[in-house]
Amino acid sequence: MIKPISGFSRLYKREKITWLAETYLKDSPSATSILEQYWNPDNQLQQLHEEFTENTISNYYLPFGIAPNFVINGYRYAIPMAIEESSVIAAASKAAKFWGDNGGFKAKVINTKKIGQVHFMFAGSFEKLQSFFSAVKPKLLESVANLTRNMEKRGGGVLDIELIDKSSALENYFQLHCTFETKDSMGANFINSCLEKFAETFKNEAQEFLGFTSEEKEVEIVMSILSNYVPECVVRAEVSCPVENLGDKEMDGEAFAEKFIRAIKIAEVEKYRAVTHNKGIMNGIDAVVLATGNDFRAIEAGVHAYASRNGEYTSLTHAKVENGIFQFWMEIPLALGTVGGLTSLHPLSKVALEILQKPTAEDLMKIVAVAGLAQNYAAVKSLITTGIQQGHMKMHLMNILNQMNASGEEKASLVNHFKTNTVTHRAVEEALQNFRSK
Ligand code: MEV
Repeated sequence: MIKPISGFSRLYKREKITWLAETYLKDSPSATSILEQYWNPDNQLQQLHEEFTENTISNYYLPFGIAPNFVINGYRYAIPMAIEESSVIAAASKAAKFWGDNGGFKAKVINTKKIGQVHFMFAGSFEKLQSFFSAVKPKLLESVANLTRNMEKRGGGVLDIELIDKSSALENYFQLHCTFETKDSMGANFINSCLEKFAETFKNEAQEFLGFTSEEKEVEIVMSILSNYVPECVVRAEVSCPVENLGDKEMDGEAFAEKFIRAIKIAEVEKYRAVTHNKGIMNGIDAVVLATGNDFRAIEAGVHAYASRNGEYTSLTHAKVENGIFQFWMEIPLALGTVGGLTSLHPLSKVALEILQKPTAEDLMKIVAVAGLAQNYAAVKSLITTGIQQGHMKMHLMNILNQMNASGEEKASLVNHFKTNTVTHRAVEEALQNFRSK
């Protein structure tokens, strides 16, 4: 058994690596130099990255790419995406090009409410708790005046606080269910600071409330935290065009629309398919969320909860034909920020936001939703026509060649060869052997 290490966080970066190498990497002699190879030679930049988290020993790169030609509400964007999956940016770009030539994407923010809760236990009558809540509510709001001043100047702040009785689900469990407007910031720190202050004030005031028995005065705060489920922070993205525009030399528009809509209906009624279908949407969404320095775990958690809001996990996108017009749309919750957090701290996120013309949070919600819709269009289109592997493996070819340590000349020749041949791992291996034996 490996001995526990204490004080790891206080070691210098090199000391941490030495410990790792001696403890876990004895059979990997190149690991240390790989870790060091990814240090940025600019010490200041390296330090910035190290200070994002504890115990940083290296940097983990993802490709930062661009999907151009996204026409959204009449403006042509180039969308930055941070993603490792080979085919995602190519697929997004293709969908962007098609819809750019067919009226572009339309996007609209439906609402922007964020939610946070103080969860507490109270052993007493709900009526008394309600009268205490009515009396204390103005004090709760006053108690966060210092925290909300700046946010209010920007048009945001606390929208409301409600008392919720959850005691039928869990004995003595109640909530302060709070709603916030956080404008261009994602708002996690603002919301959590307000909630912790509400909790403190609520607990202290309960001690003084004359209507409570001594037992009722002992409100127990369990936790105060924002919710990543934001069903009232929703954006809608859509595209539409005459059905005949969907056709190409392989399939006419009507047949394509019918197949496409059927594929969407399957994702609406079948959860195994819905999860993969929505994963394809998240390929686009996460890549932009990550590139712009937003929290993709929060987005993922909220989106999937939203996809099952009616009790069954289902497709986020929908499609129909009406009066000869094909329509494809999605409504999705996205709590995003364009100020604060990593957005201005990470130099690449800053550049990503500059590429997007310094969007407001609402603009970014629209852009991200469109990236998700485009990705889903591209994935479903491939699935119902050529199948996903053709495009995927073509993009994956470079990964296979790199795995096989192909030289520049070998790569160029094989990329050419596979323009007209099907890519499989085996086929690439054979083609490379052939090339090498010539
Ligand atoms: C792969 O990353 C995403 C897809 O599986 C999405 C889908 O099936 O719709 C292609």
